[in-house]
Amino acid sequence: MKVKKICCIGAGYVGGPTMAVIAQKCPDIYVTVVDINEERIKAWNDENLDNLPVYEPGLDKVVAEARGRNLRFCTNVEGAIQEADMIFISVNTPTKTYGEGKGQAADLKWIELCARQIAAAAESDKIVVEKSTLPVRTAEAIRDILENTGNGTKFQILSNPEFLAEGTAIEDLMDPDRVLIGGDTKTPEGLEAMEALVEVYGHWVPREKILTTNVWSSELSKLTANAFLAQRVSSINALSELCESTEADINEVSRAIGTDSRIGNKFLKASVGFGGSCFQKDILNLVYISRSYGLTSVADYWEQVIKINDHQKGRFAKNIIRSLYNTVSGKKIAFLGWAFKKDTNDTRESAAIYVADHLLNEDAKVTVFDPKVKEEQMYSDLDYLNSRNKVDNRKLMKAEHCPYEACKGAHAVAVLTEWDEFVDYDWQKIYDNMLKPAQVFDGRSVLDKQKLRDIGFRVYTIGTT
Ligand code: NAD
Ligand code: UDX
Repeated sequence: MKVKKICCIGAGYVGGPTMAVIAQKCPDIYVTVVDINEERIKAWNDENLDNLPVYEPGLDKVVAEARGRNLRFCTNVEGAIQEADMIFISVNTPTKTYGEGKGQAADLKWIELCARQIAAAAESDKIVVEKSTLPVRTAEAIRDILENTGNGTKFQILSNPEFLAEGTAIEDLMDPDRVLIGGDTKTPEGLEAMEALVEVYGHWVPREKILTTNVWSSELSKLTANAFLAQRVSSINALSELCESTEADINEVSRAIGTDSRIGNKFLKASVGFGGSCFQKDILNLVYISRSYGLTSVADYWEQVIKINDHQKGRFAKNIIRSLYNTVSGKKIAFLGWAFKKDTNDTRESAAIYVADHLLNEDAKVTVFDPKVKEEQMYSDLDYLNSRNKVDNRKLMKAEHCPYEACKGAHAVAVLTEWDEFVDYDWQKIYDNMLKPAQVFDGRSVLDKQKLRDIGFRVYTIGTT
């Protein structure tokens, strides 16, 4: 079967860029991305490509080429489902904030809603693709809903997890390490559906990079990949603390172990802690699933990755307080960066939010500059924690549009995101306008420590002395 029309439910950080690349690479396939969020769809349709709701290097060009040709963004979920042969579910699957599994399990209410919408709208057979990250065996629940609420049409369910990282989404989509497709390998219809999706990716991804597995392996591989990646960051971060006590240098240790081809040199950068919408959520999900099968030791093992990450964020904040003579009350502390990593405007689970919260609890005055994150987003991230009321958050924290203004009159500057531009700032000017002793806390090890020390700064970097 050859796919002619694709519908993607969910126009977020995954649905938008992924479908834009599919449309660009497959001019013979018509792609419709739908979302219930009208604002978001409006932004995807904005003539000015600077207003796209997702900031990703290179995304604007891809959208410019495909939008209006074979790529469309709209809110007509039902119509798009009806037309499509293949429907991707790319909606959010956050950690549950209520009830059974609160704080750990994935909240699948949006997934269930999608399944019900598909079943209600479909008038012909469809291939349904899980693009969202889901707990292993979710396909079973989706099948149950589709088969019991539909109009007698047939559905094949595939799992096709997305491995893109934000900030490099377009590169990752254009040239993926692999594409994973899980399906019902035991029936001809299942194999045919898998082949249809293989053919879509086959437009630009070499066949040997397209892996096919059973649906459960595919679902679990996504959680496993994120757990392994996050575990590497927590492992190096745990050792960064030991480095600070022993005069070993975490960057040298990373290089030394990373040259071992069995370990590899990626994902060994010590930091203020990992953030992003995926790592914590997916590990908590893995922990929850393991516990639900009675596998306590497995659950405890993976939970430790999160505990170390929380510890790392907390210890960064405590270190600022300690270095400012154990009190930050009323003191201005400038943050460079709010996004969870560079080259994205996404702030979900960003370490900056937690470090700010810790300092605000001590009555500090935090001023934030980030090249891509909007002020309302910063406040909404803080408000979400519910640590204090909205008025106090706005009184204690300010966003600045100019980095030099943000740092002016501050006791300390903390680097929370590794934006390239921070390195090239006029650090002499920043120093001249700060209170003394002027301190820099580089949570990303991006600045030239010696240069800053020569200017007169006191500098703290993660994992070095
Ligand atoms: P997101 O919150 O940016 O986007 C999800 C979108 O789905 C939202 O715009 C929301 O309005 C929409 N939506 C929810 N229910 C809907 C419905 N019933 N009908 C229409 N639209 C609906 O989320 P995201 O970051 O794109 O993540 C989506 C999924 O992909 C998650 O499962 C996530 O774990 C996974 N994932 C994310 C990344 C990443 O880097 N962000 C990478 C790989 C996988
Ligand atoms: C991650 C996975 O990499 C991706 O495959 C998956 O599809 C979604 O989740 P993402 O969260 O977008 O992607 O970014 P990633 O590059 O993995 O970084 C996650 C966090 O870890 C960031 O806060 C980053 O700064 C931090 N990190 C990463 C480190 O602190 N050190 C490292 O060496 C690598």
